[in-house]
Amino acid sequence: MEPIVITDLVKDFGGFKAVDGLSLTVRSGTFLGFLGPNGAGKTTTIKILTNMLRATSGSAYLNGIDVVKDPKAAMATLGAVVETPEFYPYLTPNETLAYLGELRGMSDRDVRDRSAEVLETVKMTEWADQRIGKFSKGMKQRVAIAQAIMHRPSVIILDEPTSGLDPRGMAEVREILNELKKEQYTIFMSSHLLNEVQEVCDEVALIDRGKLLRSGPVSDLLGSVNVHRMEVRSLQKIDGAWLNKISQLDGVEELRASGPTGFVFTLTGREQEQARMLRSLQGIGLDVASFKESGVALENLYLSMIKESR
Ligand SMILES: Nc1ncnc2c1ncn2[C@@H]1O[C@H](COP(=O)(O)OP(=O)(O)OP(=O)(O)O)[C@@H](O)[C@H]1O
Ligand SMILES: [Mg+2]
Repeated sequence: MEPIVITDLVKDFGGFKAVDGLSLTVRSGTFLGFLGPNGAGKTTTIKILTNMLRATSGSAYLNGIDVVKDPKAAMATLGAVVETPEFYPYLTPNETLAYLGELRGMSDRDVRDRSAEVLETVKMTEWADQRIGKFSKGMKQRVAIAQAIMHRPSVIILDEPTSGLDPRGMAEVREILNELKKEQYTIFMSSHLLNEVQEVCDEVALIDRGKLLRSGPVSDLLGSVNVHRMEVRSLQKIDGAWLNKISQLDGVEELRASGPTGFVFTLTGREQEQARMLRSLQGIGLDVASFKESGVALENLYLSMIKESR
């Protein structure tokens, strides 16, 4: 029995389909990145999975339990962080978790042990007895994750857990995500950042306009896309005349200068084409000092995947 099974899911908001026939299965122990641009339908799908929103048609199952027919049983196996969580600012993480544990019917002893455990997982042990009101956004997000896993769910759903955080907050939350991964949860995490998905997920499902565009191992997805942003530095000064010559080479697109001796361009193709391009550049007399894929390549690949599908 797979932990998450979504079949032909549709959510219609007055004639506009935010989710449009989505089918997706997440296998046990997988960390899936649910990737898509703003407005793709990620939050809507997650709200249906977490029973915050009712689908127009189709079905969603958590651990074999229909989320509509038996929401209570389905939610018992799930821990989720969907919207920016609200905390009582005067409570500490320990008090917050104790309150939650009581609500869930855990014994005092279990509450104490499990609180210590989850605070350790989210690296908040030293803040366990400090008021949440003064925490940073990233710290609050870590407490929210602790809350979500308090009752030992097997499945965790996170809606853009790093959104709105500064680079340090993001790095901290990603570190926690890697911790969760070690603990064998099945994780479904939405994101609009390909680099984030590449960093923490094993599988990816790319959606746009409520439809699934691709899914599979992260490495397959990256390998299957064949548009590359190339970065070149040469020994010569790259002036207008050089740019003109380079732009005429077969396969060079979106060329622009980058610093006095460098330029970047988009190349369609795989390694074969890259090797051919390097020869072409040398063929027109350019002394190539370095020739590599640019760091922002990933985001461009992602955009091109979405563009291809439109
Ligand atoms: N309650 C609603 N009524 C009408 N339209 C809605 C409603 N909720 C969402 N939408 C629309 O559905 C589409 C998908 O929204 P959703 O929030 O699921 O996207 P998302 O992938 O989570 O985007 P983001 O990255 O911005 O969070 C958007 O066009 C949004 O405007
Ligand atoms: Mg969203």
